[in-house]
Amino acid sequence: MAVLVTGGAGYVGSHLVEQMFDRGIDCVVLDNFETGHRAALPKVKIVKGDLRRRDDVKLLFERHEIDSVCHLAAYAFARESAAEPAKYYENNVCGAINLFAEMKEAGITRIVFSSSSAVYGNVKGSAKENSPLRPVSPYGVTKALVEQVLLSFAKAYGFAVVSLRYFNAAGASPSGRIGEVMGEHPRFIPVCLDNALGRSRYVLIYGTDYETPDGTCVRDYVHVSDVAGAHVAAMEKAEPGEHKIYNLGNEKGYSIREVIAAVETVTGKKLRVREAPREVGDPARIFASSAKARKELNWKPEFGDLESIIATAWEWFRKHPDGYKLL
Ligand SMILES: NC(=O)c1ccc[n+]([C@@H]2O[C@H](COP(=O)([O-])OP(=O)(O)OC[C@H]3O[C@@H](n4cnc5c(N)ncnc54)[C@H](O)[C@@H]3O)[C@@H](O)[C@H]2O)c1
Repeated sequence: MAVLVTGGAGYVGSHLVEQMFDRGIDCVVLDNFETGHRAALPKVKIVKGDLRRRDDVKLLFERHEIDSVCHLAAYAFARESAAEPAKYYENNVCGAINLFAEMKEAGITRIVFSSSSAVYGNVKGSAKENSPLRPVSPYGVTKALVEQVLLSFAKAYGFAVVSLRYFNAAGASPSGRIGEVMGEHPRFIPVCLDNALGRSRYVLIYGTDYETPDGTCVRDYVHVSDVAGAHVAAMEKAEPGEHKIYNLGNEKGYSIREVIAAVETVTGKKLRVREAPREVGDPARIFASSAKARKELNWKPEFGDLESIIATAWEWFRKHPDGYKLL
């Protein structure tokens, strides 16, 4: 019996698959490789397919002995979702429903879902699992909707569900084998590292007039390997008929300017920075209480501070500035 990891070739997915592989957990990866990379995967079973094609999922369940699922495949850029909501609803919601419906047909009921802090929107103080959900981007709405679908499946069909609402995943595997790649919509830390390597003219700060101490957005960063580890713990915690929800964060918010300062400290390079207007889809300030995950999943993040997270990202990035192309 194996665990299906949808989106396993992506940034978070590949770190999860690496951990499963290292722990001897059998897994099958389903990915369409739109943003994922084969080179990021160890020797596991790989199925190229797309969740939006329900037959791809059906066939996979017919051909492989799967007993649980970690569902990560999705589009994951809040700003892009504000400009292209249809693309996000189709992939993140319709794709997920195809997966869950085929799980039901195949009698597979255990699932860990990669949700997101984007379900909260702006939160005063630290976000708790029972904080109100007020997503400010279509991306955040898709995650909140999928959680609702899973709740219905838990109640009606006895699905054992854990949703992990994680904050900004960052860093790279301490193994040095995998890390984050600058894709079409690069995230802020890789953008800064790219600048530190002298590969871009400047780093743009979108919005300096937010209601935050220094006017820039505040985010909670969590190491990608810690996020991966939480999936493994969550699989064991899932119980039939229940939908459990856990935040994964480091309980501290860092502003964009603080991230820039941390990158400068880690890399020893001065970044060239320019200011730009706000973008739609960005909440001003969000960080998490992950006390529940720490208590119930016994989750102990290995990387608790931003500089140690960035140090792993820098280690990977300076050796692989073009991602997996050189491998
Ligand atoms: N990276 C973060 O900071 C973060 C934070 C919170 C939640 N998440 C969630 O974690 C998950 C993974 O995010 P990521 O950063 O690794 O993104 P990613 O783009 O690197 O990974 C997504 C993977 O899913 C695949 N995929 C997308 N749509 C698919 C489809 N229809 N069928 C098959 N494969 C498909 C992509 O090719 C890719 O390999 C997403 O669900 C995302 O919403 C990420």
